[in-house]
Amino acid sequence: MLPRVPTYIPGFDELIEDGFSQESIILFAGNPGSGKSIFAAQFLYEGATRESENGVYVSFSETRVSLLRNLLRFGWDYERLEAERLIKILDLSTTKELGIQNNLNRILETIKDVDANRLVIDSITALTLPLEKPADVRFLIHLLYRFLKQVGCTTIMISDIPWGSQKIGSSVEEFIVDGLILMLTDYDEDGDLKRTMRILKMRTTNHSKKTIAYEITDDGIQINEKRK
Ligand SMILES: Nc1ncnc2c1ncn2[C@@H]1O[C@H](COP(=O)(O)OP(=O)(O)O)[C@@H](O)[C@H]1O
Ligand SMILES: [Mg+2]
Repeated sequence: MLPRVPTYIPGFDELIEDGFSQESIILFAGNPGSGKSIFAAQFLYEGATRESENGVYVSFSETRVSLLRNLLRFGWDYERLEAERLIKILDLSTTKELGIQNNLNRILETIKDVDANRLVIDSITALTLPLEKPADVRFLIHLLYRFLKQVGCTTIMISDIPWGSQKIGSSVEEFIVDGLILMLTDYDEDGDLKRTMRILKMRTTNHSKKTIAYEITDDGIQINEKRK
């Protein structure tokens, strides 16, 4: 069997045969505030602190300062991990250049720099934003996929779904990625916010087919669903 890459997110790994398969690319799609960035940051934090698997967080939407502040709230001291060279944040939120190749080069350099095994791209939506033609978006996503398969990291790719939209992405990424997880926010009959995720696709994995309830607490993401 292929080696698995545990997330150590409480309750999550048992839903996917103990972790993502090594070097797979998993797309997390969801509405704003559904916890995509928190999930991804937790995945890197746990990898770096428990497994000595170094990580790179590529941020296109949030600045490094804002990300550091938000993550510290969960007790994840990314600044310390950066000093220890276990993690590196690549802040591409303010890059003026729209050069995709330039961005890919910087991602590659950063991965090499900390010898990363785990990678987060937050988000593919922001990365492809400057592209107007659907054909260019498709081209970039194929390029990115080939690029990611070469770098040998287990990757979480994030896709932002605007409120009210039924579309997960630009309808290319969901086909080419190895896994697809949908993170949904809804309101229950009492009018309270309810968070659920669905694993729509996970290659080489007998994954949970349930609608999985989860919470965001002061410790990060936590799965509430006990059954597989
Ligand atoms: N300490 C906390 N306790 C509970 N919920 C929190 C906490 N911190 C953040 N959240 C929730 O997480 C959401 C942000 O999650 P985030 O991962 O940034 O979302 P996105 O999917 O947009 O990346 C906030 O809107 C809030 O609902
Ligand atoms: Mg986010």
